[in-house]
Amino acid sequence: MPATARKIDFGHGNQRAELPLLEPTLGPPMIDTRRLREETGCWAYDPSFGETGACRSAITYVDGDEGVLLYRGYPIDQLVERCDYLDVCWLLLNGDLPSAAQKAKFTDDITHHTMVNEQLHAIYRGFRRDSHPMAVMCGVVGALAAFYHDSLDIFDPRHRLIASHRLIAKMPTIAAMAYKYSLGQPFIYPRNDLGYAENFLHMLFAVPCEPYRAPAAAVRALEALLIIQADHEQNASTSAMRLVGSTRANPYAATAAAIAALWGPLHGGANEAVLQTLAEIGSVERIPEMLRRAKDKDDPFRLSGFGHRVYKSYDPRAKVLRPLCSELLAALGKEDPLLTLAMELERIALEDPYFVERKLYPNVDFYSGIIFRALGLPPAMFTPVFAVARTVGWVAHWNEMMTDPETRIVRPRQLYVGPEERPVVAVEKRREHAPLVG
Ligand code: ACO
Repeated sequence: MPATARKIDFGHGNQRAELPLLEPTLGPPMIDTRRLREETGCWAYDPSFGETGACRSAITYVDGDEGVLLYRGYPIDQLVERCDYLDVCWLLLNGDLPSAAQKAKFTDDITHHTMVNEQLHAIYRGFRRDSHPMAVMCGVVGALAAFYHDSLDIFDPRHRLIASHRLIAKMPTIAAMAYKYSLGQPFIYPRNDLGYAENFLHMLFAVPCEPYRAPAAAVRALEALLIIQADHEQNASTSAMRLVGSTRANPYAATAAAIAALWGPLHGGANEAVLQTLAEIGSVERIPEMLRRAKDKDDPFRLSGFGHRVYKSYDPRAKVLRPLCSELLAALGKEDPLLTLAMELERIALEDPYFVERKLYPNVDFYSGIIFRALGLPPAMFTPVFAVARTVGWVAHWNEMMTDPETRIVRPRQLYVGPEERPVVAVEKRREHAPLVG
């Protein structure tokens, strides 16, 4: 990070304070508020951190107004076009694209960590068959810590590297096992002769009784989806990873927390919700009625797949995925009425003043659901695949955090609005009051 460039004035009542201004490589400068209380007697209030930087990072850059997404400086569309997922994993972890030799070694390392301990199979059997695969993944990934006592020293760079490789390599196996378990089918072991995306499709869709070869178009589409979802700077799940990691918990526990955060319908769970929304809309004729509902503040219905905390223009990931949907469906010889419906919904919404004024554009989840469906995955598996893709982002941020001398345990302040200090009253003298919970 470039050094402090200049100071700014900060006013509070009659007090004035000078706070340093930090200059990033790209994007607006940030006021360093770490001495805010000392200088002004006040803390900063920013629930949900909409205006606050929680760390410095050199991994991903997002310009929400211009619709720009860069991984380590490289535009997302070029990465999708010219790289595979393991190139991007290396890039996110190590700062630049790998040389041929580095790529070969990395591919070998990841490939040789894809199997899970056989004992882990027993954990799956403890779940109901109809469990949501994200519930299974939270549990199983957290449980990985119990298998690797020998390499849990988070201050040892070698241990961090092994844990990072294990997580990236095993996550497709764990997600595919969750899927197979839900179907009552046998687990399919990874195949070392296949690439990352192709092996993932193999573990998801192969059965022992017949040969399976993933269609080339499906491999390409999954590769693109994995790349597009690999990182997105300080999103909710990455922030969860950093928060839990800042307590010095092990990376498997932190990743389980990140998976839990990703599960929510306002975050990774939105891709599942998009298809529910499209199914609920049902036909082009019903779009105006559903748009009316989405705009009605008294109606909890929201148009899933529209809007983003950061993007106030077309999400660059949705831009890449939109044509990919049609390409994949054509290559697989499939038609999906939901794609036609989605494109029409986008067209109508983007002409509607409500969406235009609020800068609500389709986000990554709007089209990813159509691709997942074309790949043959049920909605419950959309977010687990997203978790597989995002694991490298979580791991890259965790590594960055672990080597940043500024890292401290994450511990926000609060604006206390409860009662002032008061004495405890004996039970027979207490008055009945409305409970806050229940
Ligand atoms: N449908 C209808 N109205 C919406 C939508 C939507 N999908 N999204 C935002 N709005 C409205 C809000 O009601 C608000 O209106 P107001 O100013 O009249 O009160 C305005 O647009 C601003 O929205 P906020 O909720 O304040 O924006 P915020 O940044 O807090 O939320 C979020 C962003 C959570 C993504 C939101 O747009 C949303 O709920 N979208 C649907 C869920 C979704 O697609 N999530 C996936 C995000 S991508 C990802 O996580 C990988």
